Amino acid sequence: MSYENILYEAGDGVARVTVNRPDKLNALNHQTLTELAAAFDAAAADSAVRVVLVTGAGEKAFVAGADIGELLEVAGQGDKAAELAAFGQSVFRRLDTLGKPSVAMVNGFALGGGCELALACTLRTAATSARMGLPEVGLGIIPGYGGSQRLARIAGPAVAREWILTGAMFGAEEAHRVGVINRVFPPEELEAGTLELVASMLDKAPLALRFGIEAVLRGWDMDQSEGEKLETEFFGKAAMTEDMREGMSAFLEKRKAVFKGC
Ligand code: COA
Repeated sequence: MSYENILYEAGDGVARVTVNRPDKLNALNHQTLTELAAAFDAAAADSAVRVVLVTGAGEKAFVAGADIGELLEVAGQGDKAAELAAFGQSVFRRLDTLGKPSVAMVNGFALGGGCELALACTLRTAATSARMGLPEVGLGIIPGYGGSQRLARIAGPAVAREWILTGAMFGAEEAHRVGVINRVFPPEELEAGTLELVASMLDKAPLALRFGIEAVLRGWDMDQSEGEKLETEFFGKAAMTEDMREGMSAFLEKRKAVFKGC
């Protein structure tokens, strides 16, 4: 597929997906969401891709939200609006089911749908200059691309209520403090710092990464004992991989493991 509103580059184990509408602060219109879905599918299908990096083009924004012009078109049409939300949710949900880690590199404004895109990634880094928030209530709506659910699960209901009900913008340090952002860097170090985080996953056993992602994701809504059953299941699956033998043998032989993803 050729893309108009995003850039997709894959190499050295990383698929980099850049939302590329800088003149509109990378706002997500329908076309951009469709292209993101295709890019996430391409990254999932490419066994050479081990980590997906999501970011925004330009100096100013990661993604400044859903395209407000398009949203206005569904005013007064509840079914159409609900359909739009379901579509955005389905696109972002692909990140949950990629089977590999995704990292949002938040280089500027991550508002509304942009904040929700970042929340859908497995991990998030941000420049100290980045601003995040869910300003939807100021437009007469609520987050519709999974944000109300993911933020509460990532940072807890108190933070989710504050972000959703005030519509305020929060700096990267505050987002880091409440657990929304994993690592913060000065703007000039964001790229290198994020690639270092990415690299720390590139040389790990791919199936172990997948099981780790799924154990946390599916365990979110379980009680401890139910979650432990799930953990046991993944532990057993990991033991059936060639990579388990390789990882442990490499440790004992004092060499670097070479994982095959099987
Ligand atoms: N949807 C559509 N267009 C958007 C957009 C969005 N979510 N966010 C920014 N843009 C457009 C602006 O309309 C403007 O386009 P124009 O040059 O054709 O007029 C361009 O991007 C630049 O934005 P501008 O508002 O001029 O930049 P700024 O530096 O003054 O303000 C923001 C930056 C992020 C504070 C401001 O753009 C903003 O509040 N955006 C909307 C955020 C939001 O509510 N998102 C949730 C949507 S559900």
